[in-house]
Amino acid sequence: MLATASSRSIAPPPDGGTIVRASHHPPACYPAPSTPAALDKSSQPVVHCMTAMNTEPAQSSFLHEGRADTKPSDTTSTFVNNMRLPIHRWFRYSAGFSAQWVSQVLRDARTPRPLTLFDPFVGSGTTVLAGEECGVNSLGIEAHPFVARIATAKLLWNESIESFKRSAGHVLDSAGRVAPDTEDYPTLIRKSYSEGALAQLDRLRTAWLRHNERTPVSELTWLALLAILRPTASAGTAPWQYVLPNKRKKHPVPPFEAFAAQVAIMSEDMYYFQSVVHEHSGAIFQDDARTCSAIEDSTIDLVITSPPYANNYDYADATRLEMSFFGEVDRWADLHAAVRRHLIRSCSQHVTADRVALPTVLNDKGLGPIIQELSQACHELEKRRLRRSGRKSYHTMVAAYFSDLAKVWTSLRRVCKPGATVCFVVGDSAPYGVHVPVETWLGELAISAGFNSYHFEKTRDRNVKWNIDRKHNVPLHEGRLWVEG
Ligand SMILES: C[S@@+](CC[C@H](N)C(=O)[O-])C[C@H]1O[C@@H](n2cnc3c(N)ncnc32)[C@H](O)[C@@H]1O
Repeated sequence: MLATASSRSIAPPPDGGTIVRASHHPPACYPAPSTPAALDKSSQPVVHCMTAMNTEPAQSSFLHEGRADTKPSDTTSTFVNNMRLPIHRWFRYSAGFSAQWVSQVLRDARTPRPLTLFDPFVGSGTTVLAGEECGVNSLGIEAHPFVARIATAKLLWNESIESFKRSAGHVLDSAGRVAPDTEDYPTLIRKSYSEGALAQLDRLRTAWLRHNERTPVSELTWLALLAILRPTASAGTAPWQYVLPNKRKKHPVPPFEAFAAQVAIMSEDMYYFQSVVHEHSGAIFQDDARTCSAIEDSTIDLVITSPPYANNYDYADATRLEMSFFGEVDRWADLHAAVRRHLIRSCSQHVTADRVALPTVLNDKGLGPIIQELSQACHELEKRRLRRSGRKSYHTMVAAYFSDLAKVWTSLRRVCKPGATVCFVVGDSAPYGVHVPVETWLGELAISAGFNSYHFEKTRDRNVKWNIDRKHNVPLHEGRLWVEG
């Protein structure tokens, strides 16, 4: 429920008045706020049952549908349920997986306690937040600079709620007084908003810049503004899709109203987390999973993660709207330097921009255990692309993807303790109809890096809607690759 108001005031503190958005009763299976959530006497982490918040559903423009490439039977590898969970719901990250599932894995893990959990592709921070909520020492790294900033801001739930509301209140008040200047926004932004909405967003942005004290509270206020950019856009902002300027939404939310509601939601969630999780046990670093340089040797007991899939999804483009609004990129062409070059090479634009040559990548010694099948697939792709009008560089993309993932396994071997468990949520792919058995090849690379065994647990079939070449009918699936050793 959004603020009913045309009111632009920020809701009073959760402990002292009416919350604009929803009941702040904790979900039924959370412990009462007075229950300590850290380690119990036997040093076993107290693992809470994470469940959907007992709140009214958010207005539909804040809630987005599930990931479009999957059937709804098993939602553990999607972010959709997180949109009802405190803190997780602050930013809708289509590439994310379920926090409840992470809690479940922690509950079921036979790993000796206390344990250290690690996610080398932490995205919006799901694993680390779920770990914190379970009182588990949790580390995450993310290479996308903008996404890393979002995830790090979500970990600021422990800041003073009062200061956050005061800071956001100042921003909203001064936004009401500054004059808008929308001339210089990139085309994507001007196409995505009505004139009135962009004027309000610009006033909020200017006000935030004026009040930015580079404090954690300013960062939370930045996140509140960022979080309303999609609900307030008139352009199509479907999840797991890039922005569609020509597709129009019927009822975008007015920005001042959306901002007030978002601050209320965030205050409420901070209050809730502060009540049940008494101390931080997590950290997120901007770093590269291929090196894991922020993580010390032999310190990790359990890895729960989901790498980019080899399916041509462009993580750089996924945040183009937000980065364009904040002036971090101007045009699509800026995305490579600003973001893509930091990431695993899982989309064809990446290898094209880097002019990757197939023989060079296939020469990578790290690809040893899979080189025969991989070369065969890449050469087949090289042939098929010549018959396709798009001539996508899937041949180099697939080779570079596995070359990068081989490095990830080597780094994971370094940071994991002997006997560690690693769980990768992965899906296979079939560019131009050539099947790429991702889980098997990743499993083989893990063994080659020094792990002992792997097995794949399929969670669901994926429909063909989101195959990177919609003209093929190769059945695809998604599941968990479990690696031990
Ligand atoms: C499937 S998403 C993970 C989402 C996460 N599970 C969540 O719930 O938010 C994969 C993430 O890996 C990140 N990534 C890509 N290349 C990376 C690299 N070299 N090192 C670390 N992260 C990387 C992407 O930016 C993306 O956020």
